[in-house]
Amino acid sequence: MAFILRAFILLFFYTFVWNLSCITPLFSSSTDEYSDVQCLKSIKDSLEDPFNHLTWTFEHLTAGSFCNFVGVECWHDQEFKILNLSLSNMALKGKFPQGLEHCKSLQFLDLSGNHLYGTIPLEISQNLPNLISLNLANNSFSGEIPSTLANCSYLNMLELDHNQLTGQIPSATWPAWKDQGV
Ligand SMILES: *[C@@H]1O[C@H](CO)[C@@H](O)[C@H](O)[C@H]1NC(C)=O
Ligand SMILES: *[C@@H]1O[C@H](CO)[C@@H](O)[C@H](O)[C@H]1NC(C)=O
Ligand SMILES: *[C@@H]1O[C@H](CO)[C@@H](O)[C@H](O)[C@H]1NC(C)=O
Repeated sequence: MAFILRAFILLFFYTFVWNLSCITPLFSSSTDEYSDVQCLKSIKDSLEDPFNHLTWTFEHLTAGSFCNFVGVECWHDQEFKILNLSLSNMALKGKFPQGLEHCKSLQFLDLSGNHLYGTIPLEISQNLPNLISLNLANNSFSGEIPSTLANCSYLNMLELDHNQLTGQIPSATWPAWKDQGV
């Protein structure tokens, strides 16, 4: 009896897990195929958007359909990979969106002119290793400028002005920063 019960529980468990993995393939995928979608979803979830600029909806997504979302530009139209995310002057409020870590292919990020606050995460160089351009100007970021930015080896445009940041732009070996002061 105990054996049958255990077998039943096991079967139930597997069925449950199986169902879960079938119902939510879009966001539970461990491959990075959908990770950029997850990136956008968590950005939208984590920020207050009082003027509803982020008209992003995640139902009935087809390949590349999110590439037409406001502020989003993909590497290729039919590919779920974001090249350029431009969300400036949208009155967005919140912390630096943690979900950006799922946008690994991102090269251009513009969050300037919003009401973002808190620190710029130290993990930014690990999470967004391919950044060429980072614009966080005109927000309310505070704390130290992360020294780890020096590890974003492709970064050649950094704008942090009009925040409450302290510290220095980390020195590194790449050519001239387009540094606009802090
Ligand atoms: C990124 O997207 C914004 C908004 O569409 C655009 O103005 C900007 O030129 C783009 N940047 C690059 C490098 O393509
Ligand atoms: C910051 O805001 C000022 C005033 O609105 C504007 O002139 C400037 O271009 C903005 N800076 C950036 C980097 O967006
Ligand atoms: C840069 O990356 C290297 C290797 O991952 C690491 O050892 C170093 O601490 C990093 N430097 C900064 C400033 O994050």
